[in-house]
Amino acid sequence: MDFQTRWLTHKYTGRDCTPRHRDHIDRIRLEVETSLMKILLLAAVTLDGKIARNTHHFVNWSSREDKKLFFATSRQAGVIIVGNNTFKTLPSPLPGRLHIVLTTTLEGKEDIPGSVEYTDRTPPEIVADLEARGYSEAVLTGGAQINALFLQHGLVDEIWLTVEPLIFGAGIDLFRGLEFDLRAKLIHIEKLNEEGTVHLRYSLR
Ligand SMILES: NC(=O)c1ccc[n+]([C@@H]2O[C@H](COP(=O)([O-])OP(=O)(O)OC[C@H]3O[C@@H](n4cnc5c(N)ncnc54)[C@H](OP(=O)(O)O)[C@@H]3O)[C@@H](O)[C@H]2O)c1
Repeated sequence: MDFQTRWLTHKYTGRDCTPRHRDHIDRIRLEVETSLMKILLLAAVTLDGKIARNTHHFVNWSSREDKKLFFATSRQAGVIIVGNNTFKTLPSPLPGRLHIVLTTTLEGKEDIPGSVEYTDRTPPEIVADLEARGYSEAVLTGGAQINALFLQHGLVDEIWLTVEPLIFGAGIDLFRGLEFDLRAKLIHIEKLNEEGTVHLRYSLR
């Protein structure tokens, strides 16, 4: 049983547990147990835990080493799952990757075959579709709303953080809009350069 299911079971076991809560637990357990695909959440974060100064802030501030890691990992996965706010900050789609762009409004948005697909589907539907198309791994690349959405569905296997020695003082956190009570396990730690960039990997399984 994954962390999310354990937490929900713990939270809703006992006299507070209603049939609606039980349904919720069962639904999340089903989503997690039926997902074969590995989803890696990748983000560059500042020392004060920010992924951007604001919604429009393009991630051009992370180190060369972080960019290299992101490009290699996303190229290997072949698919990037991204929120529309983040997608709009990109100068252009990355070559060689399918971009699944989450939006609440499909109207007026045009897909680019093999490169960009807009969707308003739920995370389990997106993952099931990618699995059916033969993808075994996907890079979830934010932003904060989309990260929280996938975490809520128990669809994040690992969190890869590149901590950059920068302080913004204000900005966007790694997750936004939802509350969690989860614990992850550190599985990798690596100093990426002499400037003090550190790469951390956590497992949620
Ligand atoms: N440091 C890093 O590594 C890193 C990584 C990624 C992003 N970022 C930064 O994060 C910032 C953006 O983050 P954000 O949290 O504002 O936005 P976001 O998560 O990138 O995108 C939010 C958008 O996703 C769509 N959306 C939200 N919930 C949805 C749902 N349930 N179903 C379908 N679509 C849904 C909506 O698009 P519509 O408005 O079109 O409906 C919403 O406006 C940018 O500055 C970006 O540079 C940083």
